[in-house]
Amino acid sequence: MSEATPFSKQIRSATEQQHADAENSRFMSDMLGGALGVDSYHRYTGQLWFIYRALEDRWDTLAANPIAGPFIRPELARTAELERDLAHLIGPQWRDGLEPLPATAAYAARIDECARDWPAGYIAHHYTRYLGDLSGGQVIRGTAEKLWNLPHRGDGVRFYVFDGVGNPAAFKREYRGLLDQLPLDDLERRRVLDEGQRAFAMNTALFEELAEEFPAAQ
Ligand code: HEM
Repeated sequence: MSEATPFSKQIRSATEQQHADAENSRFMSDMLGGALGVDSYHRYTGQLWFIYRALEDRWDTLAANPIAGPFIRPELARTAELERDLAHLIGPQWRDGLEPLPATAAYAARIDECARDWPAGYIAHHYTRYLGDLSGGQVIRGTAEKLWNLPHRGDGVRFYVFDGVGNPAAFKREYRGLLDQLPLDDLERRRVLDEGQRAFAMNTALFEELAEEFPAAQ
């Protein structure tokens, strides 16, 4: 793919195979195929909380950064939604005993490192999660609602509901425009693409640990 290719296309192609791997991972297929109990969804949602806390903790500083700033949009924030979902799914004591799996801790630490020291690398993580949540996340929401009888777009699946994003297709177009306008030289582009691949690999690593914890019934 030539350097003239828009960056949004480059990052999508660079992570295309990994996206398919994540989508078809055993944990995702088993959970969304109905082979696992609702506790797998609880566990997964709890792990997301650590990841989004890392993504969103430094938004005040990142919002003022010339590279990452345009990506920091309050309507994307998910931490409060995850907390509401967890309170509904587990109860008000949801935080007690909630620990990150090793893959989650490593992933959150890497996000935090980028948020602190490397705003362009942070964008790779931002892209991997938020653009995915606006896309495939909608498939996950519908399946979770049906499988576990959760209220439509209500508590339990609010993480997947972006009330502040009126038109997701238009939002994603605008987002890709921001990626395309990033003022990155060739070497930095390459590094951000690598970080995108790392972000996907860290999601897959988490799915592998969740699959070990939730083997499907034979
Ligand atoms: C069962 C799981 C998943 C399903 C069904 C799914 C499905 C989809 C679909 C349908 C799209 C829309 C593509 C488009 O807009 O044309 C998409 C895009 C995307 N997904 Fe997923 N996905 C899943 C898991 C994941 C995971 C685990 C990640 C990463 C953490 C992810 C990250 C993304 C990203 C970043 C995009 C945007 C690609 C782009 O247009 O640049 N997805 N996904």
